[in-house]
Amino acid sequence: MSKTAELHYDGKSYQIPVVEGTENEKALDISRIRAESGLITLDKGFKNTGSTESAITFLNGEEGILRYRGYAIEDLAEKSSFIEVAFLLIYGELPTTEELKDFQERIVHHTLVHEDVKSILDGFPSKAHPMGVLSSLVSSLTAFYPKSLDPNRSKEQVDGTIIRILAKLPTLAAWSYKNRMRQPVVYPNNNLDYCSNFLRMMFGLPTEEFDVNPVVSKALDKLLILHADHEQNCSASTVRIVGSSHASLYASVSAGIAALWGPLHGGANQAVIEMLEAIRKDGGDISKYVAKAKDKSDSFRLMGFGHRVYKNFDPRATIIKKAADEVLAELGVKDPVLDIAKQLEEIALKDEYFVARGLYPNVDFYSGIIYRALGIPTDMFTVMFALGRLPGWVAQWKEMRENNEPIGRPRQVYQGHTRRDYVNIANR
Ligand code: CMC
Repeated sequence: MSKTAELHYDGKSYQIPVVEGTENEKALDISRIRAESGLITLDKGFKNTGSTESAITFLNGEEGILRYRGYAIEDLAEKSSFIEVAFLLIYGELPTTEELKDFQERIVHHTLVHEDVKSILDGFPSKAHPMGVLSSLVSSLTAFYPKSLDPNRSKEQVDGTIIRILAKLPTLAAWSYKNRMRQPVVYPNNNLDYCSNFLRMMFGLPTEEFDVNPVVSKALDKLLILHADHEQNCSASTVRIVGSSHASLYASVSAGIAALWGPLHGGANQAVIEMLEAIRKDGGDISKYVAKAKDKSDSFRLMGFGHRVYKNFDPRATIIKKAADEVLAELGVKDPVLDIAKQLEEIALKDEYFVARGLYPNVDFYSGIIYRALGIPTDMFTVMFALGRLPGWVAQWKEMRENNEPIGRPRQVYQGHTRRDYVNIANR
């Protein structure tokens, strides 16, 4: 028998159906409440609001669980590859050998971008942040593939757009870096795997051979897996809500990249390294910065600490921390910023303020350290996050479209002036 909750308001009672998920999460389905009682719900930042029912990613913040399509993130990070995880997220099942081969071949076939994209790229000043460039270039793909503008075309057409964006994002991401460096772009080499190809396009030169370090490529692949989806986070919700107006996948992902850019979301990985650098330059006094983070009159926060849903630990952070240690050892990197990170972590984890609020290092605290060790420049960190998150955005967009979800359009409680008469400018 399905459960209901009861709302009592103004002398009347209302039945609210309870929706149960496969992992026993329960939600009040309030979609009829306004029609029946005149009430809406208010939840700034959607802290306690489910925006959809999804079968992609399960996350339990209290217990530190993260699973893609039922598979534990720990297993996937250790045993799978980013391309296999992308297939899993987007199509719902792990691929067979044949399916994986076909998926890889289709991606490889589309890694080139139209030559005219280069002239768009040339229009950006070299100081342009690569996230802004990437978001613009992804949006510009609608101009080269006008059929993608209609997401209601055939399934094959939509699937073609999915393959194209997976294939082209590494090229566009690497090229956004080349623009920053004012270096000539490097074209994709389709004999290389996804991450090696990206690294060659980013760090190589068109005139020289470039050997990809397998340690770097493997570490990057793991990082991308860990970032591949995270259910209804800020950027995934953005992708879904933009797509809910039947905007194209390219437009929706472009918006997702913009949402990810902010320092409270994906931009935190860049902000972490900048913060650690600032502490180092300031003499390495960690307790001064911990005190600043606790001071409510100071807007400073410890970047890379805290999470909207993880209040005990972020399982991705646990895996990344181990990977960071391994990569640094394998590459023989000694980084003074890493020592500051370790000390900061130690102090904050024992501090009553952080303990009481469930503030632990999140995925971005360690990912910045690995990216730095891999030689990736700081303002490209969030671009790396975008590369990883792409399959998640695609899967969220596809699910939303396939379930024919209605346009996303929250309500509000208006708190402004009530009606007032227009006053002529001379009398104001
Ligand atoms: N440093 C100091 N205090 C903090 C921090 C922090 N990093 N994060 C939260 N708090 C405090 C906050 O001031 C509040 O205190 P009080 O209860 O006394 O008012 C309490 O902890 C709860 O914080 P909140 O802002 O209400 O929590 P939220 O769920 O709205 O925000 C967050 C989550 C991730 C935006 C926040 O923890 C934060 O700003 N962290 C730093 C940025 C960061 O690392 N972001 C990456 C998130 S993980 C990657 C991703 O998924 O994008």
